[in-house]
Amino acid sequence: MVKVDLSGALSFLDSTGPDYGAAGQAHRALAEGSGKGADFTGWLQLPRRVQGEELKRITAAAERIRDTSEVLVVVGIGGSYLGARAGIELIKPKNGPEVIFAGTGLSPDDLNDKLERLGDREFSINVVSKSGTTLEPAAAFRIFRGLLEKKYGAAARKRIYATTDKARGVLKTIADGEGYESFVVPDDVGGRFSVLSAVGLLPLAAAGCDVRTLVGAAAEALYELDRRSPDNPAWQYAATRNALYSKGKTIEILASYEPSFRYMAEWWKQLYGESEGKNGVGIYPASVEYNADLHSMGQYIQDGPRTLMETVVSFERPRRDYEMPFVMGDADGLNYLAGRGLGEISRVAMEAVKAAHVAGGVPNMGVSVPLRDEEGFAELVCFFEMACAISGYMLGVNPFDQPGVEAYKKNMFRMLGKPGT
Ligand code: PA5
Repeated sequence: MVKVDLSGALSFLDSTGPDYGAAGQAHRALAEGSGKGADFTGWLQLPRRVQGEELKRITAAAERIRDTSEVLVVVGIGGSYLGARAGIELIKPKNGPEVIFAGTGLSPDDLNDKLERLGDREFSINVVSKSGTTLEPAAAFRIFRGLLEKKYGAAARKRIYATTDKARGVLKTIADGEGYESFVVPDDVGGRFSVLSAVGLLPLAAAGCDVRTLVGAAAEALYELDRRSPDNPAWQYAATRNALYSKGKTIEILASYEPSFRYMAEWWKQLYGESEGKNGVGIYPASVEYNADLHSMGQYIQDGPRTLMETVVSFERPRRDYEMPFVMGDADGLNYLAGRGLGEISRVAMEAVKAAHVAGGVPNMGVSVPLRDEEGFAELVCFFEMACAISGYMLGVNPFDQPGVEAYKKNMFRMLGKPGT
């Protein structure tokens, strides 16, 4: 289960500490469906809903992809791909097809790089778009689908899996017309909260993750996170980051010492940025990868404007440790580390950084799970989603809408000459 360590943050708050009364009220509004955007809280039930027939269909489709494909091209943007990419890169399953994520931009160079990477290998496509009208993935789907049809002819349709709305949208119409196997993005689940639906589970399963374990762990985590008490880690994190925000800490950097966490941080940035940044308020979510960024961003964090708070995600044990070797003569002077695991050395470095940052005026919150595996991933996802909803309500915003995303789309479609704009 997720643990939150507030020992590096509480000294920055008033003696009353985090406002758990407000966290409790926010949690109640979420659970009772009386808060803003209550129509989009179906993510709370996703693990329970998906267990059974849906999961069987997802794992069967994933098996087919694994049997027939060297590459799976996942086409989607934002909430329609970040969760899957975060999970695959964190868990790093073995022996699955390579997953290429496409449809996240309109760069021809990037597209050509991906086409070269794909080469003439056997492939399938999972196109993911709730609305079915988002330009970036729609353009990529047209291109990859064209390639697939050229390579496999009429059989191409058996290699396309569409994850979209149950009734509406262009993608739904195409999928029905062509007879693609389809999965549903539920009406009451927004993109950034959808990783535990087919949106995330199909690519995760195809890549080789054990999605049954993952979904089981998520169901358990959501049950635990529903506890109405200040020892609920979601309350602790949500209430503390809000209290720090009211003290002028307007930027939160999410840090991890695991390079495989990079896309989890991207997923987290979307989750918190899109949920909270509205009506002129919201903590700005940023991310760093330690130790690497200690040598690039470390100076700013230690010494720049004191508007930062830091949340460090860690794993209690490495999956496989590595012992520092002893070297005769000790020419590099590192024998004082010989015989110690890198895991322990990294943990000491983490404590040293925390102490330095706290002393430099950067409050530090720790979030940890036991292991970098399916269970750890599910626990982190549920924890951050639950805390995000509670935190958004504490901030007074609707954490489930994203009206600001439409502005660029309107301009882009008009400037590109889309009919009717
Ligand atoms: O979280 C969200 O709602 C967004 O990031 C969407 O997932 C993203 O804009 C893609 O939208 P769609 O799935 O409709 O193509």
